[in-house]
Amino acid sequence: MTGRVAIVTGANTGIGYQVARYLAEGGNDVVMACRSIEKGKEAMNRIKAEYPNSLVQVMEVDLSSMDSVRKFVKEFTRKKTRLNLLVNNAGMALNFKDQTRKTMREGFEVTMATNHFGPFLLSCLLIDYLIQTADIMGEARIINVTCALHDHEHSWLSKDCGFLEVDNFQLQKEGTFNGLQAYKNSKLCNVLLTYYLAEKLNNTHVTVNAIDPGIVPTTELSRNANKTDRFLWLCCVHRCCRIAKKTTTPIKASLHICQLADSEKYEGVTGKYFQNGHEERSSVESYDKELQEKVWKVTNRLTGARSMTLANEDLEEISLNSHGSLDMIK
Ligand SMILES: NC(=O)c1ccc[n+]([C@@H]2O[C@H](COP(=O)([O-])OP(=O)(O)OC[C@H]3O[C@@H](n4cnc5c(N)ncnc54)[C@H](OP(=O)(O)O)[C@@H]3O)[C@@H](O)[C@H]2O)c1
Repeated sequence: MTGRVAIVTGANTGIGYQVARYLAEGGNDVVMACRSIEKGKEAMNRIKAEYPNSLVQVMEVDLSSMDSVRKFVKEFTRKKTRLNLLVNNAGMALNFKDQTRKTMREGFEVTMATNHFGPFLLSCLLIDYLIQTADIMGEARIINVTCALHDHEHSWLSKDCGFLEVDNFQLQKEGTFNGLQAYKNSKLCNVLLTYYLAEKLNNTHVTVNAIDPGIVPTTELSRNANKTDRFLWLCCVHRCCRIAKKTTTPIKASLHICQLADSEKYEGVTGKYFQNGHEERSSVESYDKELQEKVWKVTNRLTGARSMTLANEDLEEISLNSHGSLDMIK
């Protein structure tokens, strides 16, 4: 056993399941953070059947609900004394053509809530834990699983998307919403805040990186697509592109994430974007420092995220809603 504690969100299926499986096989203490306890347990049992001595457990979190994220952190910090690795993998996409904007109980648009607000709040609430672990054990890592579609200037699929507008952050302005733009924006936010958080943490031994796992048609990410699109995606795109090595499998996609998670090669590497197992440039938009800061502030304010360690210069901005801090949930 490595003595390292890891959280993998969305670990019951797809890429996240393979990441959890790999980390469990490697002797890590893995918390599978899943929306459904039943699905999570079923996945955990499959891992335990394969690796009977592995240390795996399931904990419930619905990332689209900030209350659920807070509850998860409260329970996690009760159970574990450290955190070496946080893999923000869970994600969802609506039907890309869907123009009906759905909001959650707390008022957040569902895609942005699940893919950006929830993972951001989770990272912020666990920052102190990661920093403390890194102080004792040398380092801790955060990995944000994003998507190449965040770069609409270079992706054929998201080429019709627009730039992220901070004053229309959740595509609330009439006529601006569609599933693809919401997904693109949320995945861009993952990259923007990877860079911003990495800079904020530069005095610590916690690293933060973003990774695009590649095109993996066989996961359940396209579950909200209509039947024709799903058929095209699975049968045509996957079959044709697999031959040209443009698509990959959940196992192969997870290996790049796992390398980033536990290879010595990435010790101290922070604030980078990875694709196909290599460091790459992300979208031009993602390097916009002003945008990074605006997104950081608006996300802090909306989620009520706050970490004592990061707090000082953000206190003013986030004092509107500070019930998310680690000291307050303990
Ligand atoms: N597949 C691709 O081609 C591709 C490409 C680029 C990036 N990605 C990214 O890779 C990551 C993993 O996707 P995947 O392809 O493995 O998709 P997937 O098979 O659909 O898995 C997504 C996971 O996220 C969980 N999840 C969804 N909404 C959640 C919520 N509100 N709270 C907690 N967990 C939630 C799902 O749980 P349930 O089973 O309960 O729904 C599932 O475990 C995502 O961030 C995705 O954006 C995927």
